[in-house]
Amino acid sequence: MKILVVGGGGREHAIACALARNSETEIFSVMAKRNYGISSLAKGVHLCGETDVNGIVSYAQKKGVEYAFIGPEAPLEAGIVDRLLSAGIESVGPTRSAARIETDKAFCRDMMELHRIDGCPKYRVFHNPHDAISFIHDHDGDLAIKPVGLTGGKGVRIMGEQVDRAGAIAYVKSLSSGVVLEERLIGEEFTLQAFVDGTHMVPMPLVQDHKRAFEGDIGPNTGGMGSYSMPDHMLPFVSDKDYKKALAIMQSTVAAMERTGHPYKGILYGQFMNTSDGPKVIEFNARFGDPEAMNVLPLLSSDLSDIVRAITRRSLAASQITFEQKATVCKYIVPAGYPDSPNAGDPLTVDTSSGALMYYANVEERNGKLSTLTSRTLAFVGIGPTLEEAERIAEQAASGVRGRVRYRRDIGTGSLLEQRIAHMKELR
Ligand code: AMP
Ligand code: GLY
Repeated sequence: MKILVVGGGGREHAIACALARNSETEIFSVMAKRNYGISSLAKGVHLCGETDVNGIVSYAQKKGVEYAFIGPEAPLEAGIVDRLLSAGIESVGPTRSAARIETDKAFCRDMMELHRIDGCPKYRVFHNPHDAISFIHDHDGDLAIKPVGLTGGKGVRIMGEQVDRAGAIAYVKSLSSGVVLEERLIGEEFTLQAFVDGTHMVPMPLVQDHKRAFEGDIGPNTGGMGSYSMPDHMLPFVSDKDYKKALAIMQSTVAAMERTGHPYKGILYGQFMNTSDGPKVIEFNARFGDPEAMNVLPLLSSDLSDIVRAITRRSLAASQITFEQKATVCKYIVPAGYPDSPNAGDPLTVDTSSGALMYYANVEERNGKLSTLTSRTLAFVGIGPTLEEAERIAEQAASGVRGRVRYRRDIGTGSLLEQRIAHMKELR
């Protein structure tokens, strides 16, 4: 199989690694900036903007690729899948209209409400900032404030936690887009990712990401500082009933998209808040999570190339797809000052003796020397029979990095897990 991987971050490195496990799969890559991990696996690399649809399609045609795997959301919004399809190339990734599930938060909530899909918080969409501001003025209680469009995971502000009423109003004033205001959900977050072929859906192991910049879940939101998964593919604060409900929400969403003429093909990412009242949808993403892809893809024991074929032929079946029963812990190394004022150009060295997998993200590599850029730098993934073992491996790798970088030590630790379990018990 000849396949084009679009995107140049840690997530796309993990996708390329999973594809490369089949020695007959030829990987081509388009990315904005050279990712050393991806380019060392690829037969060809084309450097261009991730939303340069013309550049990407003509490179794909020149190389004669048959399939594309779209990593990030921006090219989906730019209509990359529609354009590749016109050129006879099938993608793992939704068309522009189906990708609105992520790229337009108002579309997502309205779709859930219209089709009476469970787990939709109370929400209101405002296209005019004045109306949003007067709603905030009169509103009693907390609110999640979400710009309608893409924000790289950094656009949500919680009134009542991160900002007060005046801060919420100032934030809405600063936005150039419409806004969704919704009920603040309280609980524990988890991610459920699934392969989807338009009709059939096959779930992957549950993962918990950590969006906040600092230990103890404080500080600004980031793209994700790290994540973990458990050997049984569940999380100890998600009951069987919660899991079944989350799965049913995802399945109803896939069915609704198909019914309305926007069949969803690709990776569906469900971000849930497990509340006292069961799982509610924080958002859907139209792609793998970053870092969550790094937890599930190394455990995939089936051939990702076969799954790509099945997705594009609408023949996906759960019996084709298995994941190893192991725990994973992913820790991201980020530049000093990330996310508000990240310091680029700082040299760093890694210690490769830990046995962790290492994924290149936003990092410069020159003559074997690494230095930071402005976003997440490198991800280390520990895999083991227990969470403790997986965490030990990831921690050893992350703590072995020398340079002006930092990471969250608490991700994947037993004490953090105990806190999550206690929080859920307290809510129920
Ligand atoms: P998103 O960009 O939608 O992934 O949101 C970023 C983060 O904001 C999520 O991971 C949650 O921690 C938080 N968040 C988003 N929506 C809500 C909500 N309705 N209630 C509470 N927290 C939320
Ligand atoms: N880890 C969150 C995301 O990929 O959106």
